[in-house]
Amino acid sequence: MAISAHGGELINRELTGKEREDALKQAQSLQSLQVSAWTVSDLELIGIGGFSPLTGFMGQADYENVINQTRLDSGLVWSIPITLGVSTEEADRFNVGESIALKGEDGVIYATLKLEEKYRYNKELEAQNVYGTTDKAHPGVKKLYERGDVHLAGPISLLNRPNHDQFAEFYKDPSETRQLFEELGWKTIVGFQTRNPVHRAHEYIQKCALETVDGLLLNPLVGETKSDDISAEIRMESYQVILKHYYPKDRTRLVIYPAAMRYAGPKEAVLHAIVRKNYGCTHFIVGRDHAGVGDYYGTYEAQEFISQFEPELGIAIMKFEHAFYCTECGNMGTPKTCPHDASAHIHLSGTKVRELLRSGQKPPKEFSRPEVAEVLIKGMAQTEAHN
Ligand code: ADX
Repeated sequence: MAISAHGGELINRELTGKEREDALKQAQSLQSLQVSAWTVSDLELIGIGGFSPLTGFMGQADYENVINQTRLDSGLVWSIPITLGVSTEEADRFNVGESIALKGEDGVIYATLKLEEKYRYNKELEAQNVYGTTDKAHPGVKKLYERGDVHLAGPISLLNRPNHDQFAEFYKDPSETRQLFEELGWKTIVGFQTRNPVHRAHEYIQKCALETVDGLLLNPLVGETKSDDISAEIRMESYQVILKHYYPKDRTRLVIYPAAMRYAGPKEAVLHAIVRKNYGCTHFIVGRDHAGVGDYYGTYEAQEFISQFEPELGIAIMKFEHAFYCTECGNMGTPKTCPHDASAHIHLSGTKVRELLRSGQKPPKEFSRPEVAEVLIKGMAQTEAHN
């Protein structure tokens, strides 16, 4: 039997066929609100059930419980607020009870929101509780401080999805990945979150996991990331190349995760696990500094934090220590499996790797598969030529 969605039921808030056409017609005469690409990705995730059991943007009770207790008002574990913030002036345009057409920056009506609540909130408290810092240099906190001061809350209906044509082959709803796993006969599936190209350390922990489960869902986040992360287009090409050369075809699938990155470390690890459970994964990998940025979180803080919720989450968390290539062992390992000291370990920082790639140099093959490095060097050179 497939793993249950978070809260028991896989949510579907997308209208289709005649219902959608009617709703789109009606939406033309509603007051509209322009929302960011980030909000559109939240709408999509709610609509397709990735954020089950959420049916819309959080009301005050859910919001406050999430930031203070890491739980929805119902008591169900949830770690990051999913909210729609607008300015006070914008909020004043709308009355509780009305429906609002949510338009993207491209003018497309992506969804309607049935406005049930408007409430103010405390940004410092959210920053501290969710990100562990109020430092505006933190990319998640920066976004939070840019958000409007009033939350609009209520259930949504998804009318249009953002365009993912460039990754169409790798786009699947949670209901579709669930069906796929069934067709493949996979009973145990490990989900892997990443916002980076797959390096040897990623590959090692994925394959350690794959030794014990039926299949691997490589599930890269392709929504908004900070500007110095490698673009989703280049990464997607690199994933296809590494899968082709180094992974068993029948035991691996690549599917995009169309969400925005929060960089919330421990709290985001919990969200990432919940979402992968909704996609049908039975296991989820949390390695070193999961969803971290800079020095805001301890190396294993995400693992420690998620541990307390494991029995309730219902998805098994596979934790891995810092992986590296050891020149003495002649293979990959972690402090758990390698007895040698750090001088024998090949480790490169993300910044160092980007520097090498930008100057057209391949990182050592113990760090990055040469085929992957080639794609990254080519991709980054093209991006820079365009900029
Ligand atoms: S993340 O922001 O999406 O977490 P990244 O793409 O770097 O960043 O990591 C994907 C997953 O691999 C995370 O679970 C992370 O903890 C893990 N990870 C990354 N590098 C290592 C490493 N060297 N050793 C162990 N785990 C790692």
